[in-house]
Amino acid sequence: MKIQSFRGFRDILPDEVALWHTVEAETRELFGLYGYSEIRTPVLEKVELFSRSVGEDTDIVQKEMYVIENKREGNMALRPEGTAAVVRAYNEHNLAASRPVPEKLYYILPMFRHERPQAGRFRQFHQLGAEALGIDSPAIDAEMIAMVANLLKKFNVSNIEIQLNSVGCKACRPAYREKLKAYLAASYNDLCQDCQNRFERNPMRILDCKQEGCQRIVAAAPVMIDHYCQDCHIHFSELQEYLGIWGIEFRMNPRMVRGLDYYVRTAFEFVSSSLGAQSAILGGGRYDGLSEDIGGPHVPGVGFAMGIERLISLLQVELPPKPIDVFIAILGAAARKPAIALQRDLRQAGIRTELEYQEKSLKSQMKKAGKLGVTYTILLGEDELEKGIAVVRDMVESSQQEVAIPQLVETLLHRVRG
Ligand code: HAM
Repeated sequence: MKIQSFRGFRDILPDEVALWHTVEAETRELFGLYGYSEIRTPVLEKVELFSRSVGEDTDIVQKEMYVIENKREGNMALRPEGTAAVVRAYNEHNLAASRPVPEKLYYILPMFRHERPQAGRFRQFHQLGAEALGIDSPAIDAEMIAMVANLLKKFNVSNIEIQLNSVGCKACRPAYREKLKAYLAASYNDLCQDCQNRFERNPMRILDCKQEGCQRIVAAAPVMIDHYCQDCHIHFSELQEYLGIWGIEFRMNPRMVRGLDYYVRTAFEFVSSSLGAQSAILGGGRYDGLSEDIGGPHVPGVGFAMGIERLISLLQVELPPKPIDVFIAILGAAARKPAIALQRDLRQAGIRTELEYQEKSLKSQMKKAGKLGVTYTILLGEDELEKGIAVVRDMVESSQQEVAIPQLVETLLHRVRG
């Protein structure tokens, strides 16, 4: 049996990797401008880290986590998201004591969720995300939304709608939940099976169910926006004012409830109609109680994460891989060692140089040089070595010139780098 990769786990092949490098480099540059530093957390974390923060009743924890049994130290989960791990690390290393507040951290890391693979949905995917820890001012929420909007602008991604909501807090949510349940109870039998399951434990999730029947029912449901406590109300209006200063346009979506339980107040998603069914390119929000949920002190926080595969699928550009500059064609066995020495010297000078590792005819070596897309090929044979020269062939102009071997590096440096 031919061994292949698992479903939903994809290879990123060399032609595509150039684009990933660009995405990562632009992200690092822009996030640095906004004062963010990179953090890298382990792939494996304790299962409880996610069940206590993302939520015991969420799809991620119930159905999608890859769990490795570990009797001694507790079961291990392949990280399904980054936020809980970043907050854990922040507390574990007591970063609050040594670094300025807010602590601004970003990550570019693989995540794992056992979901049904489809376009834009994988089992191993990558997120670039950021978390700002330590303050609860909506100014930081607005700055973060502006930062991501600027990142997408940098990539010329257009047709993005920013959807905004506030999901309330521990003070005002319980009363609203009861009101919502009372409304939904009348149509309980018409809800889909998933939503019937959500009814008791997480009725707010019913609001953003994608099933048509459920959508019809929730269209007239009470919304959180009419039930905020005073603090949530102020937080949300200030957020909108700050977004105005940043020049960010958004659409209020009072039915947007994110699929993770840790959110309070601010919730946002950036959606693109070009992405098909999986239309969210990124999602985020505020999670002021998460740190306490995982046994830490009170640390308010706000963050977001973007699916890099989804971002890349929206990018129009195709970047050529960095080409090889020079190919050395070896004519006869005696030329191999001098050719390798020449390759060493050319590379030392920063010239990307390849040669043929096996005994091949000149014709086949020239074909390889063509495939590599080099501009110059050096022909090195016994005759040339005897004369102390090599032939430098310009592959674009189809011209060639003899060059003394000691002058080769300088000549090619001049030609390749101008
Ligand atoms: P999330 O909405 O679960 O949020 O995921 C964020 C983004 O990751 C999605 O919008 C999507 O682009 C991408 N994504 C999620 N699942 C998949 C998948 N199976 N395949 C491909 N891409 C996927 C979070 O993860 C939160 N930690 C975001 C956050 C950070 N909130 C506060 N801070």
